[in-house]
Amino acid sequence: MNTTNDYIYLAPLRGVTDRIFRNTFEKHFGKFDFLLAPFTPTVKGTFVNPSHIRDLSVEHNDCKRVIPQIIGNMPDDIFVLANHFKSMGYQSVNINMGCPQPQIIRKRRGSGMLGHPDLIKSILDKLFENQEQVVSVKMRLGYSSAEESEKIISIFNQYPLHEVIIHPRTGIQMYSGNVDLEHFLIRSQALKHPVVYNGDIWSLNHYKQYKQRFPHINRWMTGRGTCCNPYLLQEIRTGSAVRKDFSVIKAFHDDIFELSKERLSGPAHLLGKMKELWNYLSQLFPDSKRVLKSVQKRTSVGNYVADVEELFRVTS
Ligand SMILES: Cc1cc2nc3c(=O)[nH]c(=O)nc-3n(C[C@H](O)[C@H](O)[C@H](O)COP(=O)(O)O)c2cc1C
Repeated sequence: MNTTNDYIYLAPLRGVTDRIFRNTFEKHFGKFDFLLAPFTPTVKGTFVNPSHIRDLSVEHNDCKRVIPQIIGNMPDDIFVLANHFKSMGYQSVNINMGCPQPQIIRKRRGSGMLGHPDLIKSILDKLFENQEQVVSVKMRLGYSSAEESEKIISIFNQYPLHEVIIHPRTGIQMYSGNVDLEHFLIRSQALKHPVVYNGDIWSLNHYKQYKQRFPHINRWMTGRGTCCNPYLLQEIRTGSAVRKDFSVIKAFHDDIFELSKERLSGPAHLLGKMKELWNYLSQLFPDSKRVLKSVQKRTSVGNYVADVEELFRVTS
């Protein structure tokens, strides 16, 4: 039973929430209102690299609910990729202004562009040149300081953005330290556009607390919280705790494993991907540190499978 009318979004986690994760998640744990895909980088010119957009093939994605995300710094290149996604059937695109990784920042991409309002303006000028694009933005409060977003938001207010997703940290914070709820409140109230709150919704209680603090927000995005507890979506929808069924969690894991095995080339890739997932799944187990360590030690697929079978057997 749905006790909330809020819209719930899946956050993009590159290396984790690919289309296999997204589709398998929804098979076992229910549907999000929207799912933002991990970023696709631009390339120079009118060329769209097929390997970059393979994960977004339309036969594996619901174009009405999955939103491709673009990372880049050249207005023309972003425009080309946005148009390509539109021609594939996607209803909107999102521009990444939040990624904090140093190699991204160096190129004035992701949160690295938040200190360069003119660059942001030139990108939005290009995207809205023909008024045909439905564009949203995912941003942090700034790269080095939350003050940076004051100017950025006054720029956003000059364009017909579909929505603005705010992760209330700065780029230099990466993923740690507190979310800055005071600045989130100020910026979200200053924006003309619908705002999506994103960051540290680890539990139903967190959601309830943020909801109480921000009554003007009805769009919420969860990433790591959902990966650590796949039942979080149902808990938010129903407003109460949901008993974790480890047979379902195992089926979720096994489906991701089998589909990734078909898709990825070789055991090293497969193990790398599954270990990344266990950074989150291990949190479901009472002795999470030991579980994670045990999985991370595995160097062959056979040992990995045996280890995971045993972990679920003793927990179920
Ligand atoms: C491993 C990892 C990969 C991420 N990849 C992306 C990405 O591709 N695009 C993006 O906008 N944010 C990315 N993020 C940020 C998340 O979408 C989200 O903003 C952040 O984790 C805070 O939300 P959460 O606390 O609900 O996880 C990534 C985060 C992590 C931890």
